Amino acid sequence: MYLSREEEAVARGERGDTLRRMMEILVALGDIYGAERLVPVRSVQIAGVSFKNIGDAGLEWISDLSGQVVVPSILNPAGMDLERWQEMGISKDFAAKQQATIEAYRRLGVTIDCTCTPYQLYDSLASHGDHLAWSESSAISYANSVIGAQTNREGGPSALAAALVGKTPLYGYHLDENRKPTHLVSVNANLSGSDYGALGFIMGSIVKDGVPLFQMRSRPSKDELKTLGAAMAASGSVALYYVDGVTPAPPTSPAAWEVIEKIALEKPDIDEVYEKYPGKDADIVALGCPHCSQEELEKIAGLLAGHKVQKELWVCTARKIADSFPDLVARIEESGAKVFCDTCMVVSPASERYQKMMVNSGKALSYIPGLCGVRAGFGSLEECINAALGRN
Ligand code: F3S
Repeated sequence: MYLSREEEAVARGERGDTLRRMMEILVALGDIYGAERLVPVRSVQIAGVSFKNIGDAGLEWISDLSGQVVVPSILNPAGMDLERWQEMGISKDFAAKQQATIEAYRRLGVTIDCTCTPYQLYDSLASHGDHLAWSESSAISYANSVIGAQTNREGGPSALAAALVGKTPLYGYHLDENRKPTHLVSVNANLSGSDYGALGFIMGSIVKDGVPLFQMRSRPSKDELKTLGAAMAASGSVALYYVDGVTPAPPTSPAAWEVIEKIALEKPDIDEVYEKYPGKDADIVALGCPHCSQEELEKIAGLLAGHKVQKELWVCTARKIADSFPDLVARIEESGAKVFCDTCMVVSPASERYQKMMVNSGKALSYIPGLCGVRAGFGSLEECINAALGRN
């Protein structure tokens, strides 16, 4: 990979050992994937935050770094609500390690917003055509597909390297030639809310790392696109998709596409996901995968109004959203539900003490059994709230 004179100086260690090590990661990636050069990034989103996932070795690696990030950089969810971790049943030992991880990132100048939906907090992180280095799979999908920015699926170390160097290797989804649709999917059904999670759950396992282009009868909202992309990134590894007439269009004309499969889905295909994964018998209900937007919190507050939950109900969101709408949080918590920030039901070890979790997210449905050892059921937002209220 070509390096400028300044980049070569960094690679030789002339700007310090941390930057040398970070450049080593970027050059190794660039060489593996055939990148011609590095490209500056507008922002970075860093995974590898939950102590559940990184463990002592990860904490040690981050703590050993010095210097400051040179582009806006934000964190993925941690393993606990950084303020209310005791209410989540998190041990003191885990909390101490998690706080140490957060402090290590803070020392490097990373913004301590722990969320998979940074685009809900800051418009300034990504615009159409920007190169990014994001690493949480649903955020990557949203950035590429809904915003029209360009990012690969970064790992935690390569994202942190991009944050400290300000650049990432130019390959993969940074190049228009890799952003062509590979699957054409017609969805002949009226969908809403969690139906998009079910659709993504189905499509990810079919498309795998392909680029689907959907033609849909219904017109998904931004929250519904968030749900769709998150599910496809979990049941498969889809990092980019298109919805005809809704998301930014592919950068190349149809004549240049290399479509390998055409798929048609009907409403019964979507309904099958709900039927296959019933959730009424769950001992916990968890919403907010990806993290809830203000609009989603409003819907939840409306459905809970005047009721008390009969089982544990968690609502996960970014702290900045919760802090901006304290009345909404209070309305939700009046029911006995808990609004947790900085974390989620998948990356927190707090989920592991339950037997079965009901979710309205195709991504959580994919991940909960494998990553938390907890059975998962799937339902619409209304069905999830009803289950939490004991209305079976
Ligand atoms: Fe976000 Fe956790 Fe879901 S990181 S996308 S809420 S698994």
